[in-house]
Amino acid sequence: MPGIDNRPIGMFDSGFGGLTVARAVIDVLPSEDLVYVGDTGRYPYGPRAASEVREFAREIAWSLVKDHDVKAVVVACNTAAAAAFHDLSNELPVPVVSVVEPGARALSIASKVRRVGVIGTVGTISSGAYQRALAEEDATLQLIATACPGFVEFVERGQTSGDEVMLLAERLLAPVVDAGIDALLLGCTHYPYLSRVISEVMGPDVVLVSSADETAFALASMLRESKITASTDRKGTHTFLSSGDVEWFADFGRRLLGPELSTASRWSRGVTD
Ligand code: DGL
Repeated sequence: MPGIDNRPIGMFDSGFGGLTVARAVIDVLPSEDLVYVGDTGRYPYGPRAASEVREFAREIAWSLVKDHDVKAVVVACNTAAAAAFHDLSNELPVPVVSVVEPGARALSIASKVRRVGVIGTVGTISSGAYQRALAEEDATLQLIATACPGFVEFVERGQTSGDEVMLLAERLLAPVVDAGIDALLLGCTHYPYLSRVISEVMGPDVVLVSSADETAFALASMLRESKITASTDRKGTHTFLSSGDVEWFADFGRRLLGPELSTASRWSRGVTD
């Protein structure tokens, strides 16, 4: 039928973080099939060189296209998007959606004082991707961007609360606390899992913005505009793959995402074009 495409959506992250985006996509687009790759065998991406992250991203994205016949790729990882979005958009034969632009848009809308913060991995913050995306949204917006090395490792270990995380958060978030912002973008898809701790450190006057919902809405519009939505009379299936320990991925991932993550299989590295 013209305008209907029941092929899956491909999505990837270095590990569990992209599950925040997967959750939003499952809720917003219940008829769509989803294939998610968590590269837990090679996480974290944040401290790695951009060129290395770019190769990982290309390898996974091409494997989604070739091995899973996806109709679109969602880069559910800010670090990978900062390093590879441009290349992926140019070389993949399917549309690519990133978390960066939808996040920047949501952050701009959330701020009244027009002074905002972005936190992310070292790779994301040093790439300048948010600095550029926000300048495009509103050049008058003041931005304080800070890297939070260590947050991702806590999330991947399943440690999302407690004294150790709180101490690290107090130390790393000091520059954004002192800056007098009223909205803070969680510019790493792992960070929503630390939102209680981050929110306690930032205080009640700072709105935390996650790019997950905005990315799902951006994906939904793109599918509609490209006329490649799945038929609405079906229920989507969800496939989860990991390059690391698949049992841990399924067990911990289910706690983060919910019952749709009932099992996980091994993602084996394909050949990059
Ligand atoms: N979740 C990823 C991001 O959004 C990256 C985490 C990492 O592997 O360092 O940036």
